[in-house]
Amino acid sequence: MPGLQTVYKEMTAFFQPLWPGEDKPLVLGEGKADAPVLMLIGEAPGETEVLKRRPFVGKAGKNLDEFLLLAHLNREDIFVSNVVKIRPTELGPTGRTRNRAPNKEELSLFTPWLLKEIGAVAPKALVTLGNVPLKALTDGKAAVGDCHGQWLNSRAGIPLFSLYHPASIIYRRALAPVYEQDVLALAQALKCLP
Ligand code: URA
Repeated sequence: MPGLQTVYKEMTAFFQPLWPGEDKPLVLGEGKADAPVLMLIGEAPGETEVLKRRPFVGKAGKNLDEFLLLAHLNREDIFVSNVVKIRPTELGPTGRTRNRAPNKEELSLFTPWLLKEIGAVAPKALVTLGNVPLKALTDGKAAVGDCHGQWLNSRAGIPLFSLYHPASIIYRRALAPVYEQDVLALAQALKCLP
């Protein structure tokens, strides 16, 4: 199994020529890269993540800190990454660049690299945030509305725990207690992992 730095080197070489003339830097994963208790997987980096070349900083970083506090974990003890490593953007009605959901092409380009990344990191458990990583790592039929708070088998051969994306709670406040309950159930389950 190639190490993480080898995977990232190969991935960077693969993506560099794909979008000539466009500024699409890769935001790679970070954290404990050798068999952490869990690997947290989001959708794609946003503006701040690209500026800092780090996943889950800015507003998403605040969400992550809340997750870590609830789950009694430290950021240094886990690995954090995204399915898609570039920021998917579009022009909004006022001409400003804004985030959009990753499209099919981006998902099919990046998912094989995510599987290699997971293989190199070898976490004990995967935690997906929202539908994008959940669908990338299962057969594509699972939906977070049905599967949140549950353990599923993943395509990576590592148990996967499905959570809502913390950003979705901003739009649907009713999900906040559900999300909290799910994170507490995850924290409880992590105590029992071998
Ligand atoms: N920032 C990330 O790195 N990932 C997300 O899914 C959202 C914001």
